[in-house]
Amino acid sequence: MKTYIPPIKSQGIKTKLVPFISQYIPKDFDGVWIEPFLGTGVVAFNLAPNKALLCDSNPHLIQFYQAIQNKQITPNTVRNYLQQEGDRLLHLGEQHYYFIRDRFNATGNSLDFLFLNRAGFNGMIRFNRKGEFNIPFCRKTNRFSKAYITKIVNQVDNISQIIHAKKFTFICQDYQETIASAQKGDLIYCDPPYIDRHADYFNSWTEKDELQLYHLLKHSKAQFILSTWSHNRYRTNYYLENLWKEFYITKQEHFYHVGAKESNRNSMIEAMISNFEPLSLKNEITPTISQLPLLLNIEYSYVKPAYAIQSDVILHSHT
Ligand SMILES: C[S@@+](CC[C@H](N)C(=O)[O-])C[C@H]1O[C@@H](n2cnc3c(N)ncnc32)[C@H](O)[C@@H]1O
Repeated sequence: MKTYIPPIKSQGIKTKLVPFISQYIPKDFDGVWIEPFLGTGVVAFNLAPNKALLCDSNPHLIQFYQAIQNKQITPNTVRNYLQQEGDRLLHLGEQHYYFIRDRFNATGNSLDFLFLNRAGFNGMIRFNRKGEFNIPFCRKTNRFSKAYITKIVNQVDNISQIIHAKKFTFICQDYQETIASAQKGDLIYCDPPYIDRHADYFNSWTEKDELQLYHLLKHSKAQFILSTWSHNRYRTNYYLENLWKEFYITKQEHFYHVGAKESNRNSMIEAMISNFEPLSLKNEITPTISQLPLLLNIEYSYVKPAYAIQSDVILHSHT
């Protein structure tokens, strides 16, 4: 399965889970694909069937994709913009990155957002308490080489084609409104921020939110899939074991490398919760994974869905 990479990056991007999530979509699915926590959009752009409602509380993400949808942003405008601002970055140095950052924080310009996202440290998205983008420069003044601009332009092109071929609606709103609008026959994919992790202006997530999410999904007429974490060596997700246990739960094991040494291999078990049995996974032992990110080795584990959490991983497939 080819995975299209969106032009916007973020630390929580689910590129590596796209093939796995795809196996939850019923073959005859004809409803609306709903994402209350769109983020970069990588899941929707690769998996959404014809109709989708794509929402996020971060207005900059939504505005960016709305601008692609209404053709204010095209592969051409992106190429021209990045050539011009990339050239200035090369000649003026890092002060130009901070000039664009100030301009973005004053105007919210979507092309400036793309520039900052692709020239900021580690492609991260983070906003301070005043809602200002505060990621520092990646320190490469030659960031926007010809090849890099072409790569981003191609990403914009691919995503534009997907957006224009389908009936997608992008709305900046809170997850509660998005989930409340779901109807029978729709499929909601939720990827909320993890409690206590990566908190910033658009990404705080409290126990109240987790409980509210549970309440809304439990009573929704739609089907849902929810990405969360299960445990690592040090911590266990209390809510998975206590709040979500009545649903089907599938787990995958990720090995994060910190540095090159094998001894620095840290395991994190991620979980997928659903209110329906993912039939296509029922007999699946080795999900195929088409893309592995750099420095990250993933090991997928599949626990057969059940109405209770299974503490032991039954099947392992190594990629
Ligand atoms: C983990 S990220 C989603 C990542 C996405 N699945 C991807 O692959 O790029 C969580 C997203 O939820 C959004 N978010 C946080 N709180 C929210 C809220 N109360 N309502 C709607 N969206 C929210 C954040 O802005 C962020 O984009």
